[in-house]
Amino acid sequence: MSLLSQINREKCPKHIAIIMDGNGRWAKQQGEMRLFGHAIGVEAVREVLKACVELGVRHLTLYAFSTENWNRPKEEVDGLMNLMVETIANEISELDENNIRLRSIGDRSGLPDACRNELTTAMEATKTNDSLDLILALNYSARWEIVDATKKIANKVKAGELNPSDIDDETFSKALCLGDVPDPELLIRTSGECRISNFMLWQIAYSELYFTDKLWPDFKREDLYEAVIDYQNRERRFGQVSEQLND
Ligand code: FPP
Repeated sequence: MSLLSQINREKCPKHIAIIMDGNGRWAKQQGEMRLFGHAIGVEAVREVLKACVELGVRHLTLYAFSTENWNRPKEEVDGLMNLMVETIANEISELDENNIRLRSIGDRSGLPDACRNELTTAMEATKTNDSLDLILALNYSARWEIVDATKKIANKVKAGELNPSDIDDETFSKALCLGDVPDPELLIRTSGECRISNFMLWQIAYSELYFTDKLWPDFKREDLYEAVIDYQNRERRFGQVSEQLND
């Protein structure tokens, strides 16, 4: 029985978030430079995108560059930024043909001009597409996003548009980078590391976490199917007890 046929299409996550990790280690295993690992990592992005289209996943968020990643050697940072520009430019027409909308979370103002411009062009060109949102977390960290949302809310209070006593979960969710996107039901991290690394801290409050030893460049369509099957075998209780869910 194929992995795909084991998936219940009715119960697929609508939003999957992925911490793509292990490109550097993968490259080292191959005796190559780290940037080679990132380049092959783009192939894994393509694989996962195809799997998400197949399953009808509505939003896919990929942690592509964190605010902490600026601390890497300059050569790697420059190479990663060039790879983003190249990849976005090369993929834009295929994204569009597949009705995929490119979006981003993170501080775009801090990206190099070439990267920000390519991203802006691609986001504009695909903005009416509605089969899947491919959301790139670029120059992103969850703490930055939470602080940014807090500033937006504080400014509304200051302007007299919002009463502090009316601030609730929903107010906060809407003030995040993409207030219209539901929280991910499934968060995947590759490479065997079991931590969150400042990613979507608000949004993953109730997400199912899936950790795999696979290094990102080795992650294939079938690996995503396995993660979804694992997710479908879990009981999501949201604070309730099992018996309540089966009532
Ligand atoms: C983590 O592996 C990976 C990254 C920081 C970059 C991921 C970026 C890509 C795969 C390119 C995607 C491009 C687009 C446009 C979607 P690591 O370098 O931390 O690996 P290590 O932990 O083995 O050192």
